[in-house]
Amino acid sequence: MTALPIFDRMVALSDLTRSRMLLVLEGNELTVGELCQVLQLPQSTVSRHLKVLGDEGWVAARAEGTSRRYRMADRVESAAKQLWAIVREQVVATRTARQDAARVRSVLAERRTRSQEFFSSTAGGWDRVRTELFGARAPLEALLALLDETWVVGDLGCGTGQVSETIAPFVRRVIAVDESDAMLAAARQRLAACDTVEIRRGELAALPVERHELDVAILSLVLHYVADPPSALAEVHRVLRPGGRLLVVDMMPHDREEYRQTMGHVWQGFSAEQLGGWLKDAGFERVRHHPLPPDPDAKGPSLFATSARAGRAG
Ligand SMILES: C[S@@+](CC[C@H](N)C(=O)[O-])C[C@H]1O[C@@H](n2cnc3c(N)ncnc32)[C@H](O)[C@@H]1O
Repeated sequence: MTALPIFDRMVALSDLTRSRMLLVLEGNELTVGELCQVLQLPQSTVSRHLKVLGDEGWVAARAEGTSRRYRMADRVESAAKQLWAIVREQVVATRTARQDAARVRSVLAERRTRSQEFFSSTAGGWDRVRTELFGARAPLEALLALLDETWVVGDLGCGTGQVSETIAPFVRRVIAVDESDAMLAAARQRLAACDTVEIRRGELAALPVERHELDVAILSLVLHYVADPPSALAEVHRVLRPGGRLLVVDMMPHDREEYRQTMGHVWQGFSAEQLGGWLKDAGFERVRHHPLPPDPDAKGPSLFATSARAGRAG
């Protein structure tokens, strides 16, 4: 029996990457480079999948200047539309698709900035000049000067000490804690010239820090390694003074199962509800959750910053 055209359509959709790509292109017209940023895939992979989708009539292309822009084809027969509706329903519910959608917004915002620059608007021109003169991070790092100079800050799970090094000039003292000798050796090297940073070896479950010793605790990209986050957060609450502040930076829920094997992750990100619940149980108040805008050049899952204050108990 002759194969039906719908079978080819099905084959094209029977791959998560292609289905993610189609979902992104359903509402947006993007270049290959932009698709690479959104899907966090190399150009060769994106081009290969695009070709399959194009050959099977799912995607159309349009030349614009020297580049080509891709979008979901308008004219798809009704059987194929029904097929896409079924696949779409499942793909759209994945965390990866939600993060793709967030990255599309960043990529489109970046494109708008580029077009502002192209049209030499005052704002676009100034952004470019500022970056050229002072670098892209200069204004953000200046915000660190808002930190209180009397604070003692705990960089808990400090790793190689990047966070400690960044904040040390702005506060009274930094206590950098980590359980790994190798990471602490790298931190000692990095922080050799920072005489306000004190390095201590220890675990989040039993911090080598006195009760109420800290004004601020930072857990940067560490909570997803911790087997029992509620106990660790209770321990962090113990070492913070009442009213002291906690900042947790970590990954949003994601589907990168392979990180368990490759990097030893225990948790595949955290939702605002899950972390907020644990924080309240540990005695924290005024919990605020902020998804961070994805960096178009970053290949990992999107991050969030959650802040909270230590309540009186503890
Ligand atoms: C991904 S690194 C992040 C380092 C640093 N905070 C940063 O943002 O670059 C995670 C660090 O947490 C440390 N770590 C993991 N579990 C820990 C635990 N239970 N107690 C103390 N440190 C821990 C690891 O040794 C590692 O140095």
